[in-house]
Amino acid sequence: MSYEDSQHSDQQARHVAIIMDGNGRWAKARGLPRLAGHRAGAKTVSTILESCPDLGVEHLTLFAFSTENWKRSVEEVEGLMALFRRYMRKQAADLVRDGVCVRFIGERSRLDRDIQDMMASIEESSAHNTRLFLTVALNYGGRDELARATRKIAEAVAAGTLDPATINEASIAEALDTYGTPDPDLVIRTSGEYRISNFLLWQTAYSEFAFTKTLWPDFTVDEFKSMLTGYKGRVRRFGAVK
Ligand code: FPP
Repeated sequence: MSYEDSQHSDQQARHVAIIMDGNGRWAKARGLPRLAGHRAGAKTVSTILESCPDLGVEHLTLFAFSTENWKRSVEEVEGLMALFRRYMRKQAADLVRDGVCVRFIGERSRLDRDIQDMMASIEESSAHNTRLFLTVALNYGGRDELARATRKIAEAVAAGTLDPATINEASIAEALDTYGTPDPDLVIRTSGEYRISNFLLWQTAYSEFAFTKTLWPDFTVDEFKSMLTGYKGRVRRFGAVK
């Protein structure tokens, strides 16, 4: 889908992607273990998720675990995996009931088998839903995604099913984990960091960005709303003069 096609004339952000940062600092400020911050962050996930349909957000993409997050302590990585497991086990039925279509992006084979199975099962049982399209980036890195897409394309060329002369932006987009999803209109990052951190590198070429110092566990629907309102005032030129 082209950038222009994915933009509504009333400048409603249809696709919002969020880098949910600051869980660790939230916990530290309270003298709690980092995992307590992630648990509080999971509650914010539910609140923001539930607010999307009423706010006109049709696609929500969340950066839950990056290809770089494996560098954290074993305790934190295992704790996060346990949290994802529990979240999926407890929330899957509600998400399906509430009309959420869930999809995961990222490299799955490094995740534990039971987590991979749960991901596949939620994707399957929610595939018909259309009220909100939720994409969860799990063991996701933008460069890793581009490397995997390149490999897929190269394999098709080697197999003789793809003519290299026909490779274009659309065929690259199709080889990415996010195929079929419009590019994000707005990328939000919490906690006062101003980086992309290997998130959706291809897809954010023309996205707008909004930053807040608020730590993710403290992020509220009100602040989300005011960022969406701020987005409405932006002029998106997509490289052209308007
Ligand atoms: C970044 O904060 C956050 C993460 C690496 C994990 C995000 C995970 C959640 C919000 C938990 C639940 C998610 C889902 C999808 C159920 P940080 O730990 O880097 O914070 P810091 O920069 O303050 O240390």
